[in-house]
Amino acid sequence: MPFFKKPIKKSYLGVDFGASGIKIAELMNEKGRARLLTYGYSDRPFDSMSTNIIDTAKDTADLIRKICAKANTSSIKAVAGLPVASVFSSIVTVQAKNKNELQAAIHAKAKKLIPLPIEEMIIDSKVLDKIPEKGEFPKDLRNVRVLLTGAPKNIVKKYIEIFKLAGLELLSLETEAFALIRSLVGKDPSPIMIIDFGSMRTNLSVIEKGTPFLNRSINMGGHTLTKTISQSLGVSLKQAEQMKRDISALTRLAPGGSLPKLLDNLLQPIVNEIKYSLNMYAGQKESEGTTVEKIILTGGSSLLPNFSDYFTKLLNINTYLGDPWARVIYPLELKPVLQEMGPRFSVAIGLAMRDIG
Ligand SMILES: Nc1ncnc2c1ncn2[C@@H]1O[C@H](COP(=O)(O)OP(=O)(O)OP(=O)(O)O)[C@@H](O)[C@H]1O
Ligand SMILES: [Mg+2]
Repeated sequence: MPFFKKPIKKSYLGVDFGASGIKIAELMNEKGRARLLTYGYSDRPFDSMSTNIIDTAKDTADLIRKICAKANTSSIKAVAGLPVASVFSSIVTVQAKNKNELQAAIHAKAKKLIPLPIEEMIIDSKVLDKIPEKGEFPKDLRNVRVLLTGAPKNIVKKYIEIFKLAGLELLSLETEAFALIRSLVGKDPSPIMIIDFGSMRTNLSVIEKGTPFLNRSINMGGHTLTKTISQSLGVSLKQAEQMKRDISALTRLAPGGSLPKLLDNLLQPIVNEIKYSLNMYAGQKESEGTTVEKIILTGGSSLLPNFSDYFTKLLNINTYLGDPWARVIYPLELKPVLQEMGPRFSVAIGLAMRDIG
């Protein structure tokens, strides 16, 4: 039995609400670098996967408490992720001659672009160009690029309520894409696409100079595949899920093969969306001739066999499985376990990194 409680350190909980379960990582700030203190997760039963986890605030808060108790977390400071699908996020260009005009122009643009009434949204904006602090902007700086983000107030309120009930202090609520940039991209300025293959959704983001340029979300993920296996072979969802993972594990022992036919067909909607996003990005960057240079895969379903090879060949863009632990210090003996669950933890790790470094 230790005589002392854990010393008070500056550490943060990253809390990711995924359709397949809640994932929590606790990272400590060690001289500007992230060190893993602990982690935990809880899987959700198949039949509740399609209900939104934030609609049952009390149950969700209880689940968070349980995960934290089991993982023996020490911090109450938490950062949570907002799903890409419920956030409006876009890089826009507005015209302004000075800072006052800029604020008004951003507001007007938000009102025009965001599909919900602006009173029901929390709007956030980040100016991407270097503009003067005071006075008139020089002529060449009057087209200002702004990252515009909007989240529905009622969703944000629910998150605040959940964290209050769980006894945690919610420091920040941010789009998943930002968390993935921290854990998977770091300081790399080149245009990169991140594909997060989850259980119910697949999210795509094109990142440029560390900022999400474009986000899309498709209503399809690993669970779609589990359902198809279950229906076509007449086995339970639980058995189908196990079969899927066994195939992944087996194929990883003998890499280099092609994608199973079943998977090839199921992936079509995702492939179409990827191609559409790559074209859209190239189209918007036509004058500069910029295209996406690499693709990083993450999310639990990125463990499916031969995924990175498949995309590398199909799209002719180098595709890698992202390693969210690459920027984190952790005990070496945990490496095999951490590597295996890495793809599922990319969002939680990136969220916990927010105020480190
Ligand atoms: N070894 C594996 N091989 C194939 N699929 C796997 C493996 N391990 C987990 N998965 C799949 O990964 C999915 C869960 O991934 P993840 O935790 O990233 O999703 P989520 O964040 O809960 O979901 P979403 O992002 O859709 O809300 C499940 O569909 C699961 O079947
Ligand atoms: Mg997810």
